[in-house]
Amino acid sequence: MEVTIGALRIGVLASGRGSNFQSIIDAVSEGKLSAEIAVLITDNPAAFAIERARKHNIEHLVVSPKEFSSADAMYTKIADELKSRNAGLVVLAGFMRIVGKPLISAFPNRIMNIHPALLPSFPGLHGQKQAIDYGVKISGCTVHFVDEGMDTGPIIIQAAVPVYHDDTEEALSERILKLEHKIYPEAIRLFSEGKLQVDGRIVRITG
Ligand code: GRF
Repeated sequence: MEVTIGALRIGVLASGRGSNFQSIIDAVSEGKLSAEIAVLITDNPAAFAIERARKHNIEHLVVSPKEFSSADAMYTKIADELKSRNAGLVVLAGFMRIVGKPLISAFPNRIMNIHPALLPSFPGLHGQKQAIDYGVKISGCTVHFVDEGMDTGPIIIQAAVPVYHDDTEEALSERILKLEHKIYPEAIRLFSEGKLQVDGRIVRITG
């Protein structure tokens, strides 16, 4: 049996602005989340997330896809970097790639993602625009565990917002993002307290 001592260590993967990364940093520094952010790994050397890591003295690594002969080789490297830092949870925060098998099998039900729509509706890119174009009246965001599909893993938490008939993609994205910043740290907190039980597709929140 694996014995974990001390606070949960989190590895964050991000490709861009990193506002969800920031919400996790803030939840940790405000004491709402008892965890340590061990490392930020990014595939984009220009990601603003790197500035956020620097500001908060969080180690960051740039893993450039072009340095690897295959996606599997890259995800093996990422998994090794995370394991060597004793990460207990991997958090995708705007990581703009489909996670490869070597990483998924190294962290089964230990990788989370946030998606800006109510899954299983509107997976993939531009979830907010897809919702507007379809004409739904409610959309939102979903935190889920990552499996090999595109936004298909077991759902942990969702939050809903209204969609207005004259909404723009920007306005809806902003409305959704506010909730993303609440539910992502909350999902991580539940995980860190051992309150998420995964049974096939169903995630039970216990206690
Ligand atoms: C968010 O909308 C998130 O739902 C999606 O990518 C965006 C990342 O934003 N997966 P940020 O980089 O966290 O600001």
